[in-house]
Amino acid sequence: MSKQANQADNITMSGGGLYSLATIGAKDVIDRSTPRVLNALKSLIDNRHKNSPPWTFSDMGCADGGTSLGLWSAVIDSLRKDDNSDIQIVYADQANNDFNALVKILHGHTQFDSYLPGSENVHVLESGSSFYSPILAAGTLHLGFSATAMHWLSQKPCDISNHVHMVGAEGTELTTFAARAAKDWQTILLHRGREMGAGGKLVLVNFCKDQQGQYLGNTGGVNMFDQFNTNWQTMVQDGVITQQEYTAMTLPQYYNTVDEFSAPLLDPGSAPYNAGLRLVDIETAVVPCPFAEDFKKHGDAEKFAKAYIPTIRSWNESTYLGGLSSQRSAEQRADIIEAYYGMYQQQVVDNPTEHGMGYVHAYMTIEKV
Ligand SMILES: C[S@@+](CC[C@H](N)C(=O)[O-])C[C@H]1O[C@@H](n2cnc3c(N)ncnc32)[C@H](O)[C@@H]1O
Repeated sequence: MSKQANQADNITMSGGGLYSLATIGAKDVIDRSTPRVLNALKSLIDNRHKNSPPWTFSDMGCADGGTSLGLWSAVIDSLRKDDNSDIQIVYADQANNDFNALVKILHGHTQFDSYLPGSENVHVLESGSSFYSPILAAGTLHLGFSATAMHWLSQKPCDISNHVHMVGAEGTELTTFAARAAKDWQTILLHRGREMGAGGKLVLVNFCKDQQGQYLGNTGGVNMFDQFNTNWQTMVQDGVITQQEYTAMTLPQYYNTVDEFSAPLLDPGSAPYNAGLRLVDIETAVVPCPFAEDFKKHGDAEKFAKAYIPTIRSWNESTYLGGLSSQRSAEQRADIIEAYYGMYQQQVVDNPTEHGMGYVHAYMTIEKV
């Protein structure tokens, strides 16, 4: 198995449809991007000729597909005003994604309200191809979408010695992460550039570090990633895990700034620019943590912590678990993970007004000229 495949093994989301149940905030982020997607679609509709090939869209890093059901439903409604041609939506995620959950959700076999059973001439396809590789045939993609996925790097460029995330990295460790992220961003753009025909659009909604230095879980109050880090360091000091295990828990993620996202799309010397890709516009926005917002209404700290922790676990548990030594029994590893999240849960209960995972995203539209 390649190093990259090993890396992917440690970044799976919660399966069985739990991802979408736990991540209501991610749905809020996608819903916020729906007008942008419909707007990007407008010029494609205007320029569409009779007998054009089927509409082809992609949802890259879709997880179980539950969070984007509303978006695709809005896209279909908007097209169906005066166009009954075939629509295909390619749902792509890593090969180890829970595609069973995706299929069940899309086909209406769960509590989620899917657009598919009631739609005519709409075809969904599932792809296990990474966004770091080709997903669709050249020139076939009309509109590619991705939300909250492209911060996952193609591989961990190095371990971070003093933190679990690049937001706390310094010196050469930080520059090594930045260099990997720049390469990965270019790879993503070049593959999508090949997939799109002229006039094709990308709407990408990616975690970022905004102009105010805000990022996921760092929008006021306790810095979420610093808290994660402090808790794991406490577990090292208490002898629960080793220093080696702590270091292996480095999350293979990077939060680009607006400048970093924009650079290859504005530089006439870059490969993406020469592939015809142009930045239409980019903005950042903060979507508040829905669990912290709920707490403001109900005021029950236990209830808040109990609802909030699963959203955190849905995306970082697999990396932490992967960092624990394989010499440990599965039971021992599970106990450590439970103790870790238990510690964090108690901190939220003790100080509820200071915790939350506000989402900080760059929303961008890219076109192929
Ligand atoms: C936080 S979830 C986002 C799911 C959904 N797009 C949303 O916004 O709710 C991130 C998803 O990105 C996927 N992912 C990570 N790296 C990927 C890659 N290289 N190619 C495709 N998907 C990837 C993960 O497997 C996961 O399903």
